[in-house]
Amino acid sequence: MLATALGVTIHAVDSHQPFLGELRRRAEDAGVGSRIQAHCMEMSDIPAVFSSIDLLWSEGAAYNIGFADALARWAPALRSGGFVVVSELAWLSEAAPAAARDFFRAGYPDMKLTTENIRLAQEAGYRMLGTHNLPRAAWIDDYYEVLEPRATTLASHQDAGVRALAQETLKEIEIFETAGGSYGYVFYLLQRS
Ligand SMILES: C[S@@+](CC[C@H](N)C(=O)[O-])C[C@H]1O[C@@H](n2cnc3c(N)ncnc32)[C@H](O)[C@@H]1O
Repeated sequence: MLATALGVTIHAVDSHQPFLGELRRRAEDAGVGSRIQAHCMEMSDIPAVFSSIDLLWSEGAAYNIGFADALARWAPALRSGGFVVVSELAWLSEAAPAAARDFFRAGYPDMKLTTENIRLAQEAGYRMLGTHNLPRAAWIDDYYEVLEPRATTLASHQDAGVRALAQETLKEIEIFETAGGSYGYVFYLLQRS
């Protein structure tokens, strides 16, 4: 989408080569393959490989090295005034149901309120230009509506590891349905200050 919308070279970073292969196939299908350069590498090594980045775009991935740590590490790789668009799972309310709080305390103990993430981004040297909450439909369409029937089937799989993963997925979907929008994926639009 970025290659199509921006018409510039995009350097795509992921540490899992098969995902970059899938990206390559999709980019070729979309007619933008020549604009994608894929790099199988650690996201924390971005400053060692790139400098003067105009726009660093990261959806649902920064948490792998910690939201605040990722922002601090990436800052020197951006050109002065360069932009970061990063999304991160966050609490949208201080009054989330106990079941949701318990679920994420176990699964993602580092999850913070959006207001805390804004403060962390500012402390990491960015100006906050805005936020955008992913709409409910983005969790359902092509995601939970696909995952739920698959997980239901796999919940009785002969392999205990598969059963556990399927049950965890079903639990996550149940939590989402009962959490009343108290958490979500938030995009932070940042400019290096
Ligand atoms: C939840 S997925 C999000 C992928 C994509 N941005 C999206 O929205 O569909 C997280 C991605 O981060 C990659 N990843 C995890 N740890 C990484 C690391 N340390 N360095 C680079 N990529 C990493 C995973 O391989 C995976 O593709």
